[in-house]
Amino acid sequence: MTAVAIGADHAGFPLKETVKVWLLARGLRVLDMGTHSTESVDYPDYAALVAGTVAAGDAARGVLVCGTGIGMAIAANKVGGIRAAQCSDVESARVSRQHNDTNVLALGARTTAPELALSILEVWLETAFDGGRHVRRIEKIAGIGRRFEAPEVIHAEAR
Ligand code: RB5
Repeated sequence: MTAVAIGADHAGFPLKETVKVWLLARGLRVLDMGTHSTESVDYPDYAALVAGTVAAGDAARGVLVCGTGIGMAIAANKVGGIRAAQCSDVESARVSRQHNDTNVLALGARTTAPELALSILEVWLETAFDGGRHVRRIEKIAGIGRRFEAPEVIHAEAR
């Protein structure tokens, strides 16, 4: 694996540091894109940095951490070529690799204990994509991105 890009907002910062130590201990190259403290920041900024780095091929995978992992996954999936999944259990992480070929993992620091988060990460890193019929399906996901690419922001109040 070339490198793993990691990023977090203030809520995810402590778990991101734990993830970083774990990755480095396994001999992986880590690109830490911040944040570097618990001072309040906006998670989409870090999702864009990590997802952009993976999409550009400068990292093989990305790991994002926020309070729940949900905002990070939503933001990362806006980047072409990114398939991000928020996982709070090991089996979802495994299947996200086997079936969805996820290249970004989003973790929730406020919802997932560090030990479980590292188990999720380990399985996610070690599981291969199954290919086969799943190739067609992820190509269809890319097709949705091309067909519905639109800049508008839809707020609940605007409907
Ligand atoms: C920050 O308070 C929180 O909204 C963020 O970390 C994340 O949970 C968003 O999805």
